[in-house]
Amino acid sequence: MKTVIEPFRAKVIESIKFTTEEERETALKLAGYNLFHLKAEDVIIDLLTDSGTSAMSSEQWSRLMVGDESYAGCSSYFRFKDTVSKVLGFEHVLPVHQGRAAERILFGALVKPGQHVLSNTHFDTTRANIESNGAQAIDFPDSGNREFCGNIDLRAVKRFIDEHGRSSIPLSMITLTNNSAGGQPASLENILAYAALLKSHDIPLFIDAARFAENAWLIKRRERPELSVLDIVRQIFEVSDGCMMSAKKDGLSNMGGFIACREADLCDSLKQNLILTEGFPTYGGLSGRDLECIARGINEALEDEYLLYREKSTLYLAQRLNDAGVPLINPPGLHAVYIDAAKFLPHLEPRELPGQALVCALYLEAGIRACEIGTLMFGRRDLQSGAETTHSAELVRLALPRRVYSQSHYDYVIEAVCNVFDRRSFLKGLRIVQQPECLRHFSARMEPIENSFTHQSGVSGGVGNYEC
Ligand SMILES: Cc1ncc(COP(=O)(O)O)c(C=O)c1O
Repeated sequence: MKTVIEPFRAKVIESIKFTTEEERETALKLAGYNLFHLKAEDVIIDLLTDSGTSAMSSEQWSRLMVGDESYAGCSSYFRFKDTVSKVLGFEHVLPVHQGRAAERILFGALVKPGQHVLSNTHFDTTRANIESNGAQAIDFPDSGNREFCGNIDLRAVKRFIDEHGRSSIPLSMITLTNNSAGGQPASLENILAYAALLKSHDIPLFIDAARFAENAWLIKRRERPELSVLDIVRQIFEVSDGCMMSAKKDGLSNMGGFIACREADLCDSLKQNLILTEGFPTYGGLSGRDLECIARGINEALEDEYLLYREKSTLYLAQRLNDAGVPLINPPGLHAVYIDAAKFLPHLEPRELPGQALVCALYLEAGIRACEIGTLMFGRRDLQSGAETTHSAELVRLALPRRVYSQSHYDYVIEAVCNVFDRRSFLKGLRIVQQPECLRHFSARMEPIENSFTHQSGVSGGVGNYEC
């Protein structure tokens, strides 16, 4: 059969509440044009994130009853640890409540003020946790390979090490897949060469493993078809010193994360902070049942049928948007389709937040919640001068929750994006009226630059797609 179907069927369903455009207009105003402030029940299709939004399998739900909730030494921890050790090959595994707790604890132990951490691209919480230790997070993305736009630029890394010296780099990272750079994978060749380069300078490599299974699948599809996904995963992690993982992605869990490493001394030093802020090392901020769900979820996320279905869902959405001339990052990764909002809305300057303007327009059009990854997320306002910095890319991420939406949901999304695309030249920009100092996209409030954001009608001409 050529048709790829969801490798599961529904047993429990969650009803969607439908809203009118007027209701959405009111909700949007109340939310300060920031979709993080919306009530989830006012959203029809929620593509804000793929994080913690997966549908769990009946096997995972069944583990809830098996969960051992003992404070210390619960058997769920040992099942969880065995899975992580078996799949990723690390002896020491510390659970945490989510990925950013892993970042805070690991960087708190390893990173000193004035130092540098390198990566293909740091995710926003990763960057913030490095910077909160007074260090700098430096990105070296390499988009030269069309199939592996998540690669790290090895020449730039080498130059940086030569210029700044090993002592200024306590650890180096790679984010798999590269979420902030379009969810693109890094190739096995690139990862292995990066690890070898770091090793030759005695710099530890830590992997941000949030979407490790998806990265491994794309390596299988685009680079090493002869290897199994598990073999690829093992080759990747074998050359690293440790990893941080938000299990809310490829752990197919609604909550959780972990730090894993090889060195017992490092693990011991991390445990102190873990006990202080997350909990005893055999539960680390999670209940026993969460540990069970993650253990099961990691194995499910590595199944070929599941990964193929995931690839085909993302491609289905991307191909139809490509066919309609909507500017996307191509080829898409697995967890999201990224619209290039700068090309979609060329009449808006970065300071007019084209990505956020598009996100608001999609919500008004059809109750779809997407996420801006551009100047709202990464720009800064200088508190003294009031000057704004902008970001190099203005993207809108349509993240695909795992095992949640079907093809007809994506047809609905495609129709909505195309409708907004048809009248894109009438969309207005936004200005920020209130923002915090750090991670502003979560809580900033905005207003339309020209009073009203709605009732933009009309049709405008096409722009082409571009490659990542
Ligand atoms: C690549 C990457 N790293 C780290 C995190 C942080 O994980 P969490 O949301 O579980 O704190 C995320 C979350 O989206 C992510 O995408």
